[in-house]
Amino acid sequence: MVSTIASVINGRPAEGAQARTVASLNPSRLADVVAEVKLGDAATFGAACAAARRAQPSWAQIPAPARGRTVAAIGRIVEANKESLARLVTREIGKPAQEALGEVQEIIDTCDFFLGEGRRLYGQTVPSEMPDKQLFTFRVPVGVIAVVTAGNFPVAVPSWYLIPALVTGNTVVWKPAEYAAASAMGLFEMLQAAGLPDGVLNVVLAEGAETFAGLGQGLQAGTIDKIGFTGSTAVGARIGELAGRHLQSPCLELGGKNPMVVTPSADLAVAVQGALFSGFGTAGQRCTSLGTVIVHESVHDEFLAQMAAAVSAAAIGDPTQDVLYGPMLDQKFADRFEQYLAWIQPRHKVLGSSGVGRVSGANPRAGFVGDPEAGLFYHPTIVDGLHGSDALFREETFGPIVGVTSYARLADAIALANAPGYGLSSSIYSSDPGEVFQFRRGISAGMVSVNNSTSGAEAHLPFGGNGKSGNGSRQSGMWVLDQFTRWQAMNWDYSGHLQRAQMDVRGLAADLGFRLES
Ligand code: UN1
Repeated sequence: MVSTIASVINGRPAEGAQARTVASLNPSRLADVVAEVKLGDAATFGAACAAARRAQPSWAQIPAPARGRTVAAIGRIVEANKESLARLVTREIGKPAQEALGEVQEIIDTCDFFLGEGRRLYGQTVPSEMPDKQLFTFRVPVGVIAVVTAGNFPVAVPSWYLIPALVTGNTVVWKPAEYAAASAMGLFEMLQAAGLPDGVLNVVLAEGAETFAGLGQGLQAGTIDKIGFTGSTAVGARIGELAGRHLQSPCLELGGKNPMVVTPSADLAVAVQGALFSGFGTAGQRCTSLGTVIVHESVHDEFLAQMAAAVSAAAIGDPTQDVLYGPMLDQKFADRFEQYLAWIQPRHKVLGSSGVGRVSGANPRAGFVGDPEAGLFYHPTIVDGLHGSDALFREETFGPIVGVTSYARLADAIALANAPGYGLSSSIYSSDPGEVFQFRRGISAGMVSVNNSTSGAEAHLPFGGNGKSGNGSRQSGMWVLDQFTRWQAMNWDYSGHLQRAQMDVRGLAADLGFRLES
């Protein structure tokens, strides 16, 4: 069934000129058109921001516990539709069924966490320096949030923005990835079914350039108060620059070159399992995907042999079947991945499959599940012998490729782990607490896994990165509240006269010269 999808502003399909229509294809069966997507333009984006601005004051006046009940309803609706939303995610971006179910579970977990926030949203009562005066803090909504998300987690990562933004009293304009528009629309409809008033959540489908222009218009018009962006480092830097001109700090969740350090005390079998899941799960297209394994020279050969065996034996193919990974998300990711493969040098050692590049009849993958030529399937590739100066070592390589290099001293491993300049996720396999804490202190990443892979963050710990991975903002759990609310400080003097802070403060006399004689 092919559906036609368009932007929704103020509860209605967006009117006016559409920029153009694109097809969202099933990447594991390109002949399967999942949706026709009518793209809007910068004006569509601007109109959505204006609608969100109009809807915000009355949404903020709904008591927070009632907004929390709406979040509870969203969670239950998503739960009741878990299989069908997961099926849509698998069909539209090729994420294997089990992982797609996990992705939908992440929305449910997020709702379960934030439904209670409607009854918390704590402020503080703070003592004053003076009598008959009381101090308070309140969390106030920021206003209109413009959210731009990628399609590798087409529903879970958007929920990390939408749910906390809504429960804290903001209204939202959401621009999902065009190639994941049907999944986005599925989630949008579930949020609407929970009874959100018109204009509280608006969806705009548009290309990157139009979206960027729309963000500029909204900022200029004062109809955007905060931007949330998940995507590439290059676009994140441009968004940060644009927002900065309007004195705003966006919430940026960008790329990663996530290192895994394997020490001599590691359980190699467990490390291999972790490398397989984080290196090749979602075809290496998570922002938490493993970039480079940095393995101690004494266990390098053994680790590499075990990893190559595991990757060679892994089932790859049709994502509706039991496979490690399916296709690339979309043609543009396949094209870009081909460029990364061209960075492999003759001096590198390539392992993990019966070929490199796109799987086809002429370039087969042993044990492939399904018809490789129907979709955008790529061989898993392990590249051993990386040097610090290799592009494959320095740059994010979104796709099923993992680099391997070795180290002699843990301090060198940490330096290698930090060298690419990203700082999202990281991992160390070790049974030595001293090594673990040395790594934790030295690593620049926002997230550190111990004896666990770089992927698989739980929905209630702070998620985010440093350096090229973000501007320090954190999503999820209580930490994201600081993205979507601002602190308002109130002081209330009921003494009946002016009491001047710092000047009219009465203290008790202390004998600071007192010393205990013993
Ligand atoms: C992302 O890749 O943008 O930790 C998010 C994980 C998932 C989320 C990844 N829970 O891999």
